[in-house]
Amino acid sequence: MKTRMTDLFGCRYPIQCGGMLWIAEPSLAAAISNAGALGNLTSGNYNSADDLRAAIDDTRRLTDKPFIVNITTMPSIRLPVELLQDFFRVCCEKKVTALEIAGAPVDRFLGPEFIPMAKEAGVKVLHKVGTVKHAVHAQKVGYDAVTIAGFEEGGFPHMDNVSTLVLVPRVVSEVDIPVLAAGGMANGRSLAAALSLGADGIMMATRFLATRESGVHANIHKVLMEKKENDTSLNLQSLLSAFGLQVRALSNTVMRQVAEVEQKGGDLTDLLPLISGERAKAVWKEGNAEEAMLTIGQSVGLIEDIPGVDELIRRMIEEARQALDEAVGLLSDDEGALPRKNSA
Ligand SMILES: Cc1cc2nc3c(=O)[nH]c(=O)nc-3n(C[C@H](O)[C@H](O)[C@H](O)COP(=O)(O)O)c2cc1C
Repeated sequence: MKTRMTDLFGCRYPIQCGGMLWIAEPSLAAAISNAGALGNLTSGNYNSADDLRAAIDDTRRLTDKPFIVNITTMPSIRLPVELLQDFFRVCCEKKVTALEIAGAPVDRFLGPEFIPMAKEAGVKVLHKVGTVKHAVHAQKVGYDAVTIAGFEEGGFPHMDNVSTLVLVPRVVSEVDIPVLAAGGMANGRSLAAALSLGADGIMMATRFLATRESGVHANIHKVLMEKKENDTSLNLQSLLSAFGLQVRALSNTVMRQVAEVEQKGGDLTDLLPLISGERAKAVWKEGNAEEAMLTIGQSVGLIEDIPGVDELIRRMIEEARQALDEAVGLLSDDEGALPRKNSA
């Protein structure tokens, strides 16, 4: 499969892994890149520029294929702006293939010099956005590609609550740079659908969490197979609406407590013990899925097994091919076939 996305990043298949705090580490990134997709190394896993530098080296020891580094540009106590700027500089110094920026645009959050710095280093910069307006801004300030994420996505969907099905063709018609579709993507049919909507590829995260290489506890894998599309909820509007965002996470005990605190008008001090990243970090490894805020997308409803990454990618490409073939098969001039557009 050759698209503008595979041309831009030099990967074999138009499938990218999204940033995943505590999960998208060198071993998973390399497994995904070795399978022909674009693995993700998430900079938020690290506390210093040196740690990120070492993680890039570790990933390169495990794969000679391209991978992307996620920098989440949102206010954070653990990851202040100066550290994010250092992460960006390290990626340019290391000449990684590409950066996935999620959150505020680089030009505004890190400074106007950063996109030119990436261009100078030959590092491609992709922006994950949740609205058409932000995709247009990304193109204007020089990003090489955009990912448009519908509100099905796990993590931090935009508060507009618009679906991937509507956002992808909207963005495709508004920008000229390559567009990746995210939110609700989990199998070959998702890939075929996104390509049919005009996207150049897809990004997914929950589906990669449900692979043997993701490193989470077996109970988490079991939960991912059991939960359905209506088992996630949207919360934290009280904290995140100032950024136009909210959180989509697994509906569990902690998220019900978060909802109660929000209803009572609680603030960050009340919410922090429930939503802390450290709490999620422990749960991914220890396996009690009720005990932390676990960011997961509606795509969890499409997950029925825990394959190896290589098997997942091969299966997706075969499924996508079949789905596209089946769709093309519906178009025929034979009598009884579907009427073509504009036919009488
Ligand atoms: C476990 C997990 C952790 C995530 N952490 C981050 C993160 O650190 N930064 C980020 O930009 N997005 C993060 N996301 C969001 C994903 O990158 C992606 O936008 C979203 O999950 C796509 O929807 P899907 O999971 O249904 O495929 C995370 C998602 C998951 C599932």
